[in-house]
This record gives sequence, structure tokens and C-alpha cells, in this order.
Amino acid sequence: MLTSSLPVRQVSEFAADVRASLTKCGQRELPSKYLYDEVGSALFEAICVLPEYGLTRADARLLERHAGEIVGRLPSPIRVAELGSGSGKKTRWILEELSRRQKTYYYPIEISPSALAACAKELGQIDLVSIVGHEQPYLEGLRTVAEGRGEQDHLLVLFLGSTIGNFDRDAGEDFLWEMRAILRPGDALLLGTDLEKSVALQLQAYDDPAGVTAAFNLNLLARMNRELGADFDLSCFRHEARWNSAERRIEMHLRSNCRQTVQIPAANLRLMLDEDETIWTESSHKYKIEEIPGMAERAGFRCDAQWIDEEWPFAQNLLVAK
Ligand code: AVJ
Repeated sequence: MLTSSLPVRQVSEFAADVRASLTKCGQRELPSKYLYDEVGSALFEAICVLPEYGLTRADARLLERHAGEIVGRLPSPIRVAELGSGSGKKTRWILEELSRRQKTYYYPIEISPSALAACAKELGQIDLVSIVGHEQPYLEGLRTVAEGRGEQDHLLVLFLGSTIGNFDRDAGEDFLWEMRAILRPGDALLLGTDLEKSVALQLQAYDDPAGVTAAFNLNLLARMNRELGADFDLSCFRHEARWNSAERRIEMHLRSNCRQTVQIPAANLRLMLDEDETIWTESSHKYKIEEIPGMAERAGFRCDAQWIDEEWPFAQNLLVAK
């Protein structure tokens, strides 16, 4: 039996969220942010190198190819904040380019301490770049960074990897709007968005033959066993990826193989699942290139430029706060 070393506040927040999302009526759910504990973050890094998951490579290719052009469009001086930095690997191209023209401050904002540590290690060696990580929720962290900057400093916010796709479309726009409220006119947001492609390619990307994505999804059950004292039997669940064509998103579910009861003591919950009932763990919305400028405008930004990867349809969108 593993004992949890997490602070009480985080454990009880996890427990409360698990309880709330599993007891809602209708489709059972779990918040996707809990996929990223230390094991989940490592499995996600493995997903990023799967041949079937072209998203991360497309994201990185665009940054590598167009960093000069992207940075050339930014005001100066400017500081960089990244929401959900992960390992920070693809951010290198932007930071290197910026550090050629100025001393660069980089603030990764992450709820995963292991990702934050990996990021500091990956990017800590670049000359003229100073890194200060914030282990906070996105908007809280962004507020801290925005309040700490000088009168003249602009901000570049990086929201890469199509993380925005985890939000429902409306909630994604609301989130952009909340971000905008923290920024000043002229501040920039570089937004990575995965574009729609064939259903077959999209399904393979979220249900790879080696089972890495399945392990990533199932780890959420294992995490509840570790941290909440739950008794999920992982062999009684299977990973499922679905394309929801009405919402234009991939959904990950965990499907119960049988009628079963699971105890989650820390959430004070006895969960009864029917055979074939699913727990919905993540959405990954896909976009059309032409829908981004409208989203941006409604949230108080102007879409200044877009770069598209041809090999794996994906776009970097440079949005400027109005
Ligand atoms: C990191 C949220 C962008 O939705 O594609 C990868 C996470 N889930 N495989 C995505 C993920 C399953 C990823 N994001």
C-alpha cells in the first residue's frame, strides 16, 4: 500500500472533484486535469512520441520553423508565460529567438510538479533566459505573472499543444476571455490548435496499438486507488476513444466490463456501475482553421497570423489583445 505524500488541500480537492463529477446525474465524468499525476505525465510524454499521435511533433515543427517570424511580430520588451508547459521542449525555439534580442523572463505555469521540474531542467541552460515556475492553476498563475511585471513589459502567453481542446467550445472561449481580462492591449497569445482530419487518423491517435493511451487513461483509476484509497480493479475497465461528430471532438472513456461496485473512501463514495457504462475522462476538440479568428474576436483578441503544418494538420495562431 502506498501512502500519499500530497498536501491535505490537494488530496481533498481531488476527492471533492471526484465525488462531484461521479455523482452528477447522467453520464459519469472525471476532470481530465487529474490524468496528469507523475505517472500520467510520463505516459503523456510517451504518447507524444507515438507515430500515431502527430500532434506534438506538428506543434514543435511549426515553432521551430517559424520562431523568427513569430518573435518578429511581438512588441518589446516582453515576458513569456506558458500555461501547461509540460516538459517545455518545444518552447526552446521561441525562448532562443527572443533571447537574441533581450534578456528573457520565462514563467511556466503548471499544476504538475514533475512537469515543472522537467521544464526547468530542459530550459534552464539557455543564455539570457531566467526561469521562474509557478505551481498554480492557469489563470491564478497568469495573474501572478501579470501583476509582477513592470509598467513597460508586455506579455506573451503560450497555450500550446491544443490544450484548449480539453474545454468545451463555449468554455474555451470563456477561458480566452478570462485570459484577456488579465492582459493589456498589445499583449500576445500564441494558441496551438489541432485541426480536423480524417476520423480514422483521429481515432488511431487516441487509441494506439501499443496501448500507451489506454494506460494513460486507466492510470486515472490507479491514481484514485493510490491517493483516495479506492479499490478499482483495472482489469474490469477498458479504454475507449470515440469521435463525436456533432461536437467535433475525440472523447476518451473508461468502459466498465461488468456490473460492479467500487469504494472510494476519501471521496466518501460507493460507486455502482452497470455493465458497459462509461466514465468520460477527456475531450479533445478539433478545429477548422477559419473558426479561430472568430473565437479570438469574441474573446477580445485579433488574430494576427496563423501557421499551418501540412503533414499533420495543426495551427499556431498568434492572437493580439485588443
Ligand atoms: C495534451 C490535452 C492536448 O487532448 O490530445 C493525448 C492529451 N489525451 N492523448 C490531447 C491526450 C490522449 C492531449 N492534450
